Amino acid sequence: MMKNSGVSMSSSHFSLLSLIFLVVFLSSLPYPTLSASSFRCNPADKTALLSIKKSLISIPDYFASWVPKTDCCHWEHVDCHPNTNRVTALFFDQIYVPFHIPAAIGDLPYLRELAFTDLDIMISGTTFSGPIPGFLGQLNKLKNLDLSSNQLSGPIPASLGRLENLRYLILSDNQLSGSIPGSLRQLKNLDLLNLSGNHLSGPIPASLSDLKKLTTLDLSSNKLTGSIPDSFGRFNSDKNEDFSLLLNGNHLRGEIPKSLGKLHFRVIDVSDNKLTGDPSVLFKENSTSRAIMLSDNHLEFDLSKVRFPKELNVLEMAHNRIRGKIPKQITKLNALRKLDLSYNRLCGKIPFGGKMQQFPAQSFAHNLCLCGPPLSKC
Ligand SMILES: *[C@@H]1O[C@H](CO)[C@@H](O)[C@H](O)[C@H]1NC(C)=O
Ligand SMILES: *[C@@H]1O[C@H](CO)[C@@H](O)[C@H](O)[C@H]1NC(C)=O
Repeated sequence: MMKNSGVSMSSSHFSLLSLIFLVVFLSSLPYPTLSASSFRCNPADKTALLSIKKSLISIPDYFASWVPKTDCCHWEHVDCHPNTNRVTALFFDQIYVPFHIPAAIGDLPYLRELAFTDLDIMISGTTFSGPIPGFLGQLNKLKNLDLSSNQLSGPIPASLGRLENLRYLILSDNQLSGSIPGSLRQLKNLDLLNLSGNHLSGPIPASLSDLKKLTTLDLSSNKLTGSIPDSFGRFNSDKNEDFSLLLNGNHLRGEIPKSLGKLHFRVIDVSDNKLTGDPSVLFKENSTSRAIMLSDNHLEFDLSKVRFPKELNVLEMAHNRIRGKIPKQITKLNALRKLDLSYNRLCGKIPFGGKMQQFPAQSFAHNLCLCGPPLSKC
C-alpha cells in the first residue's frame, strides 16, 4: 500500500514538474504576450488590416482573431510571406451580410491573392450592389483576383489592366455591365479569364488575343455582340516566325516548341451571348484547343469547310445558324467526349465512325436535314 502510494505520488510529482516545464517552455515561444517587436506582422499592413476590420464592423465574429495587440500574420483569413512577412493573401469567404470592398485593401501593396467568394447576401434580405473599386488596380503584385458569385455591379474598371502579375481573373456570376475593357490586353501573365454570368455588352476586344499566356477564356452568359475577332485565330506577332516555320515544315526538327501551344486557347466558352458572324478562325487542325463552346448565339457559317483541332474534348455549338455538312474529319477526334450540334441548319449524312455513333440523337437533333445513325436512316 505505502509503496504504491509512494509511486503514485512521485509520478504525479513528475507530471507537475513537466507541466511547469511545459509552461516555461511555451512562454518562451513567440506568442501574443510578447513585445510587438517580435511580431512578424508589418506595422503598415497591420494598420491597413485594422482599417479593413473597422469598415466591416457589421461582420463582428468574422474578425474575432484580428486583435490589435497580436501578430496579424496569425490572424484568420490572412497570410504573410514566409520571409518578408508582408501580407500576401486575404480570404473573405462565406460572409453572410452585404459589404462593400474596403478601400484599405489598396494599402496592402504585397497582396498576391485576394478572394471574396460565396458571399451569400440573400440571408440579410438586401441586395448588395457595390462596384469593383478602381483602387484594386494598385495591387500590382496580385496573382489571383477572384470576386466570383457576388452581386458586384457597374463596369469592370480599366485599372485592372495594371495588374501585370495577374494569372487568374475571375469575376463570374455578378451583375457587371458595360463592355470588356481593352486594357485587359496588358495582363501579359493572365492564364484564366472568367467573366461568365454577367451583363457585359459590346464586342469581344480583338486585343485579348495579345494575352499570350491565356489558356482559358470564359465569356459565357453575357450580352456580347459582334463577331469572334479574327485575331483569335492568328498567332501573335512575336511568334509569327515560329508559326511560318511550322507551316512550311522545312527547318523543323525535334519537338514542336511548347510555346506554340501557349498561343492557343485550351478552353474558349462564349456560349449564351448575342454573337454573330463566322467563328471558324477558332478551328485549326493543329491547334491545342480542348474545349470550344459556342452554343446559344447567332453564329452563321458553313461547317463543311472546318477542320477540327485534333485534341478536342468538348464541342458545343447548339442553337446557332450553322449550315453545311459535318466534316468527315470529326471521326478522327479520339478525345471527343461531349458534342452538341443540335438546333442548327446542318444537312447530310452524319459521318460514320470514330465516336460519332456513341453520342445520343440529341447531339444532332433539330437540324435542317441531318440523317444516319444515331438519327434515322438517310
Ligand atoms: C467560370 O465561372 C463559373 C461560375 O463561377 C463556373 O461555373 C465556370 O466553370 C468557370 N469557367 C471556367 C472555364 O473555369
Ligand atoms: C498539322 O500537323 C501535321 C504534322 O503534325 C502536318 O502534317 C500538317 O500539315 C499540319 N496541318 C496544318 C493545317 O497545319
